[in-house]
Amino acid sequence: MIVAIGSDHAGFDLKETIKNHLLEKGFEVIDCGTHSKESTDYPVYAKEVAIHIKSQKADKGILICGSGLGMSISANKIRGIRAALCLNEYMARKSIEDNNANILCLGGRVVGFDLAKSIVDEWFKAQFQGGRHQRRLDIISELETT
Ligand code: RB5
Repeated sequence: MIVAIGSDHAGFDLKETIKNHLLEKGFEVIDCGTHSKESTDYPVYAKEVAIHIKSQKADKGILICGSGLGMSISANKIRGIRAALCLNEYMARKSIEDNNANILCLGGRVVGFDLAKSIVDEWFKAQFQGGRHQRRLDIISELETT
C-alpha cells in the first residue's frame, strides 16, 4: 500500500505525525509537502496528492489543512477523486464502505493526534461494500461530465 500525503502549514504537524504512524505500520509513504510551517496554499498540495492517485503512483491519499475543508473542496474538483473529510472513526469507516473514498481529509486544527491516528487506522481497515453503493458512485461519475 502506497500512501501519498500532503498538507498546508496548518496541517503540517499532524501530517508529520500521521506520516510516522503509517511508516511504523509498514506503509510506503510519499510526502508531497509542505515541509515547514511557513504559510502556503492548500490547493497546491491537494492537486499533488490527487495526481498521485490518478496516475496510480499511490493507492490512497491523505490531505490535511486547518479545517480539512479546503483540502476536500480542492481535491474533489479533480475527476475520479473521492475525498472525504472525516471527523471521527464512524465517518472514516463509512467513507470507505459506502463511498470508496480514495483520499482522507483531516483538519489539523479540529482533531487531536490520537483521534486522527484512530481515524486513519479505521479508514485503512474498512472495505468498500460495492452493490448499491457502486451504483451510486457510478451516478457520481456521471456528474463529473456535467
Ligand atoms: C489556513 O489558514 C486555512 O485556511 C487552511 O488550512 C484550511 O483550513 C482551509 O480550508
